[in-house]
Amino acid sequence: MCKSPSANATFTFPLQNTPKICIHYPEGVQFLSGPDRIDRAGELLAHGSLVIIPTETVYGLGADAENPDAVARIFTTKNRPMDHPLIVHISSADSLDYWGVNILDYARDLAAAYWPGPMTLVVQRSDKARDFITGTQNTVALRVPGHETTRHIIDALAKAKSKQYSGVAAPSANRFGKVSPTSLDHAVHELGDYLQESDAALDGGQCDVGIESTIIDCTGPNPVILRSGAITETDVTQIATLSEFESAVRAPGMLASHYAPTATVRIIDSIDQVNEENEAFLALAEFETPNNCSRLASPGNATEYAQVLYSALRQADDLGCSTVFVIAPQGPGIAAAVRDRLARAAHGE
Ligand code: TXA
Ligand code: MG
Repeated sequence: MCKSPSANATFTFPLQNTPKICIHYPEGVQFLSGPDRIDRAGELLAHGSLVIIPTETVYGLGADAENPDAVARIFTTKNRPMDHPLIVHISSADSLDYWGVNILDYARDLAAAYWPGPMTLVVQRSDKARDFITGTQNTVALRVPGHETTRHIIDALAKAKSKQYSGVAAPSANRFGKVSPTSLDHAVHELGDYLQESDAALDGGQCDVGIESTIIDCTGPNPVILRSGAITETDVTQIATLSEFESAVRAPGMLASHYAPTATVRIIDSIDQVNEENEAFLALAEFETPNNCSRLASPGNATEYAQVLYSALRQADDLGCSTVFVIAPQGPGIAAAVRDRLARAAHGE
């Protein structure tokens, strides 16, 4: 049962105006603002600090990808298993050959078509991508984020180190297994208590996409999608033929149970299956709210569903609900990626 609003109320929050949750901002964590915030973020990263950074998918917990001590702190801050490799964020495809080797033509074509954007390419690693990034695999995952601020931060890191290229290792800025943050408030709510005084956070607004990037294994003769996202199968097949075979590449972290709020997520097909009152409900706008349930969001289509998904799951916890009843969006494309995240959030139910 949800603790508030009152049992009979139907609670909705609009897409653009998610209410601020009450957060304890830890003392000492620096919130970077003002015109020099990008340079300061680059300098802090160069000195081994962690910086919470915006991307168009979800917020990331960033560190200099060539600094083993800083990267080690990503794992302890998130409580993430050490063998789960990290995505290296780069500012343009120009540094593909700094981080990778033997990069296949179709991978370059995908990069040209969809970077900057919500797509991560797994390629053979160069000696710059060391074991502490790749979890000892011989591949590295690379992404040029769509958020301009973050691309500038990556360049500011290179400038602070007087180097031509740099990379920011950044997993989603949440504790391991939990819901990814799509606003700075949510990221600080997740990690604020675990950061140090020398760490920082930078606001880039609400994430446009709302779910994590599509991950594509580009080490074989044809690409293989390892994690679905906003760059869809159809998008990939416009550039290259998808492999008929499973990938030999592991993507540790793709656990059946992930992206989970504290509330139990139950996926249903129709509101007739809501068998408890005063719980939370999430579905496309076309579905009515079941009696006495708190409506978390009413996205108009699958793209909007992805945008609001994680903040809706967080809202269920804020309301103290024990169950979220969810009707998933149907069809291919980003709807399939939303179903993938919902299935992981609901694992065990
Ligand atoms: O949208 C995103 O991708 C966000 C933002 C911050 O960029 N990042 C993100 O990172 O979702 P994370 O760490 O939460 O998920 C990264 C996934 C993990 O499942 C990991 O196993 C996989 O990428 N991965 C990283 N390096 C890999 C590699 N070399 N081979 C296969 N999978 C890899
Ligand atoms: Mg994650």
